[in-house]
Amino acid sequence: MLRIGIIGCGYWGPNLVRDFSEIEDVEVTALCDSNPDRLNRFKRRYPGVRLNTAYTEILKSKTIDAVVIATPANTHYKLAKEALLAGKHVLVEKPMTYNVGEAEELIAVSKKQKKTLMVGHTFEFNPAVIRIKELIEAGELGKVYYITSRRLNLGKIREDINALWNLAPHDISILNFITGSMPLGVKAWGGSFLKQSHEDLAFINLAYPDNIIANVHVSWLDPLKVRDTVIVGSKKMVLYDDVDSEARIKIYDKGADKLGNDSSSGGFGEFQIKLRAGDLLIPKIDMTEPLKQECRHFADCILNNKSPKTDGENGLRVVKVLNAAHESLKKGGTEIEIS
Ligand SMILES: NC(=O)c1ccc[n+]([C@@H]2O[C@H](COP(=O)([O-])OP(=O)(O)OC[C@H]3O[C@@H](n4cnc5c(N)ncnc54)[C@H](O)[C@@H]3O)[C@@H](O)[C@H]2O)c1
Repeated sequence: MLRIGIIGCGYWGPNLVRDFSEIEDVEVTALCDSNPDRLNRFKRRYPGVRLNTAYTEILKSKTIDAVVIATPANTHYKLAKEALLAGKHVLVEKPMTYNVGEAEELIAVSKKQKKTLMVGHTFEFNPAVIRIKELIEAGELGKVYYITSRRLNLGKIREDINALWNLAPHDISILNFITGSMPLGVKAWGGSFLKQSHEDLAFINLAYPDNIIANVHVSWLDPLKVRDTVIVGSKKMVLYDDVDSEARIKIYDKGADKLGNDSSSGGFGEFQIKLRAGDLLIPKIDMTEPLKQECRHFADCILNNKSPKTDGENGLRVVKVLNAAHESLKKGGTEIEIS
């Protein structure tokens, strides 16, 4: 039996409480939030669960093996480090930390303490995203030319971090996951309209290996909820629309084929191009709730001594890209190399 304490019961924490409570071999023994009003909501629904306003009570507790951290991003490093040092396994929400050094330190501490460190990159547990990765790896899309990803809505406006750090971790984690790589360089541009301190909008251009171009557009100041990713390959094109529950993935047999040499070009290696617009396939996807899969995976890794799919290194790769994008944003779109 894995005994879990969850720190942070605001908007996202209750989803983690619900999903962990439904998993066999897991017992949610304590919940913590510095705001007592947030905790009171759980009294009736989870009567046996201990409620604490001080996270140190969770870390001291001998009846807790693992800690789940769903507090604002600027608290992740401190809470995750203290939890690991207290001998707890840790699942920390995205972004893992707010800078590269802190992420590296958490990895080192987890290794030293021999405790599991996992990051809540939920989309890597999303069956639609997993299907896209399989399509790319099987060569169904041909050579991937470019990928665009949009995460837009009106709200939720964060106080601690900008829209880049809050929203783009999902897109970067999806891109790294489906390409099986990380970008070599990034250019980001954005704007702070509501408060000078935080960008509400960012356009991020990423250069992935194998000449794959990617663009991420994130904003919490947009009229519509948009969460989509388009992958354009030489053979097929895919639209992943996370808001469309009827057709999360659409595979378009569309493209532009190169035919023989174009004689009108004087034979200088130019090809004739023929557009192709074939069938549209909407594959049936068993949408087992991604967050539930993530929670199950965390428990399975601890109970069966496995390495998490979204381990500290995975979280660090995302933080490295965000960090470089942030630097570019502050320098007005200068290209930043990612080591
Ligand atoms: N994986 C996902 O899809 C997903 C979705 C939404 C949010 N998140 C992440 O979850 C985290 C929380 O986001 P949210 O929207 O729930 O924020 P929120 O502000 O609604 O909730 C955070 C809660 O943490 C509490 N808190 C803050 N500091 C604390 C401390 N030191 N000790 C105890 N409690 C503390 C606050 O009182 C608040 O109730 C963020 O890191 C966010 O990026 C992930």
